[in-house]
Amino acid sequence: MIKIPEIKFELLIDHARIDEFAAVAWLAQGEGSGLAPTPKFLAEIKRYIDNANSPDPKITRASGLAFVLTDEDKIIGTILADEDRHFDNAAQLNDLAVVPEYRGRFLGRKLLRHAFVAVKKYSDYEYVVGSTVLSGAYYEALKIPHVGTLEIDGCKRRFYGAKID
Ligand SMILES: CC(C)(COP(=O)(O)OP(=O)(O)OC[C@H]1O[C@@H](n2cnc3c(N)ncnc32)[C@H](O)[C@@H]1OP(=O)(O)O)[C@@H](O)C(=O)NCCC(=O)NCCS
Repeated sequence: MIKIPEIKFELLIDHARIDEFAAVAWLAQGEGSGLAPTPKFLAEIKRYIDNANSPDPKITRASGLAFVLTDEDKIIGTILADEDRHFDNAAQLNDLAVVPEYRGRFLGRKLLRHAFVAVKKYSDYEYVVGSTVLSGAYYEALKIPHVGTLEIDGCKRRFYGAKID
């Protein structure tokens, strides 16, 4: 019998899950690099979890949101939403990733949609930009327009943006 997964969204609030979250989110930093998440990356995720634990999570200069997609208890997808420092009136999405075994089931799209709804709920931003160090082909496949490429910390990042409905 084929098992149908119980997939659901959660706001990540558990510090004990930093390593599990990081292992999935790291896929968005360059799959196949073979390297483990850096201490800087882990510290960044800790900041998101701290914010998620605050009673009133708002996407502001000091905070952000981290969503995970889980199947039973296992983290199978991630997305982060935070303030964007490069575009006017826009929240930034980072670390959109789905583990390989669960790809092709529209979960990436669901994560994006969920993040858009969360940005609308928790902030006054009118736009969302997704940023990636990868090719951006996924955003292009979803017809989200490329709005710029910037060099940040010595790394080229492509930005894709859309207005929040
Ligand atoms: C990109 C990613 C999140 C998509 O997750 P997913 O749940 O498989 O996505 P969906 O099911 O919503 O969409 C799948 C479709 O996107 C396409 N797609 C997936 N990754 C793609 C990529 N890198 N370039 C172009 N198209 C891509 C698939 O071919 C598929 O197309 P189809 O529906 O015509 O068959 C997942 O492949 C992933 O984690 N990749 C590694 C990290 C990454 O690239 N993050 C995104 C940074 S922009």
